[in-house]
Amino acid sequence: MRMKCLLLSACLSLTLAPAAMAQTTAGSGVVPATVGNSAERAIGFAPNAPAGAALVIVMTDAALPPLDGIALGAAERTAITAAIAAASFDGKAGTTLSLRGIGAYPRILLVGAGATPSSLALAEAGGKAAQELKSEAQPVAIAGAFGDVSAADVAYGFALGQYRFDRYKTVDKKAPPTGAVTFVGANPSGAETAFANRWKPLVEGVRLSRDLANEPANVIYPESFVARVRETLAGTPGVSIEVLDEAAMRKLGMGTLVGVGQGSPRGSRLLLIRYRGAGSPDAPTAFVGKGITFDSGGLSLKPGAGMGNMKGDMSGAASVMGAVVSLAKSRAPVHVVGVAALAENMPDGNAQRPGDVTRTMSGKTIEMVNADAEGRLVLADANEYVAKAYRPIAIVNIATLTGAVVGALDNSYAGLFARDEALAARLIAAGTASGEELWRLPLHKDYAERMKSDIADIRNSATGQGPGASLGAHFIGFFVDEATPWAHLDIAGVNRSEKATSLVPKGMTGFGVRLLDQLARSGE
Ligand code: BES
Ligand code: ZN
Ligand code: MN
Repeated sequence: MRMKCLLLSACLSLTLAPAAMAQTTAGSGVVPATVGNSAERAIGFAPNAPAGAALVIVMTDAALPPLDGIALGAAERTAITAAIAAASFDGKAGTTLSLRGIGAYPRILLVGAGATPSSLALAEAGGKAAQELKSEAQPVAIAGAFGDVSAADVAYGFALGQYRFDRYKTVDKKAPPTGAVTFVGANPSGAETAFANRWKPLVEGVRLSRDLANEPANVIYPESFVARVRETLAGTPGVSIEVLDEAAMRKLGMGTLVGVGQGSPRGSRLLLIRYRGAGSPDAPTAFVGKGITFDSGGLSLKPGAGMGNMKGDMSGAASVMGAVVSLAKSRAPVHVVGVAALAENMPDGNAQRPGDVTRTMSGKTIEMVNADAEGRLVLADANEYVAKAYRPIAIVNIATLTGAVVGALDNSYAGLFARDEALAARLIAAGTASGEELWRLPLHKDYAERMKSDIADIRNSATGQGPGASLGAHFIGFFVDEATPWAHLDIAGVNRSEKATSLVPKGMTGFGVRLLDQLARSGE
């Protein structure tokens, strides 16, 4: 690599050996390690609202419910009821009504959850409240027409909705909300326990995934990804960690995983986290995520516009790790192994060339005709390794694999490809329950024709137009034993969001954490 040296320090760093250079460019000098995201509201449960709080009322219809622990006199209730009628507010899911000047409350916000709300609908109401109140500093009290324990569901949504990633902003940082949020109800300890046992670990998993994907690629690369996950899981019971570096992978014959990373000075890694809960089966379920920490396209270089979003090309791996964090920290009675296939896809002089032939750990050969179809390459070796070393009962891949899936499903669904009907049905059900929805796309046997190579067992990309997302899925499936239930989720359309929804602020979404967490808990 050749660069013009404008600064003496830059010239010096270029004279270092590749390994040392990787360290000096790792970002620690550019981005102070101490910078953190601004504080979010602490979440608590109590029988009464704190003084001076803004009041949020979760509504299921137009009728103001009785509110235990909230000071509202007859005059104030009359004023709210009149406002509801005047605004034709009906408590439907997703609606809000903001009121000021009633009683001593700085603000009263009504949030609709719809009639007989599900756990997810309550969470969405909580997330909506968090976003509406994100620039207000005062404390918040939330009450409403939900049962005492369901307050935990609202709190879960609030925690997801208030996520922010602003750690690198030093000017123009929005005033962070400092006041706590208190969920008010007659049985606060029941709600608190439900939140701590089920939702808090899941929120932590989603946050990890969003953070890893939002972090720029000069901060999160294979080695630092591993370090961040280790840090998050330190001291968690039932967890064991295995990391393969490049030398270990080369020895095992992982030609495709090592091949993708060889155009980058940053070493590739295969990270495997096993979590085994009490009373769980002997064989784990494997979640295997694409972890391209930056996808330039390699020598099949991508056009410049939007390339910055390719820092999020490790979203699948990040969400796998998030799900493992949730399951382990909640001590779920499940057995899983989460795998992150980590590499940086860069185009230096050592990069693999279109037309190169590589070999996976399985021994099968690949004609690598497009260096930008790299996700399927790293997954082929990662699936092979986990199948051999962990003997899983099922393998689920999750990857920002193709632009084509965005054309098919936009950001409304992730694409699901499966050879196993039972696993497909469980995944679709987990998607509906978690709010991370899937739509099934085909895996036709004729796709094999389009991926045939003249000189190797398969090529990594078809010629001409074709069902791009399905062809990618076919390629991955070619390396998975037919006897192992296998599914692949293409999340290229859903890992990033241009605009906020109630549970997902703008930016990287953490898609897949809630889904895989739900799948693991859904049993056999
Ligand atoms: N990481 C990309 C896919 C992607 C595209 C993710 C848009 C998020 C948003 C992937 O590695 C890729 O480049 N896929 C190619 C495959 C093709 C070369 C067969 C694509 O979709 O164009
Ligand atoms: Zn990619
Ligand atoms: Mn690519």
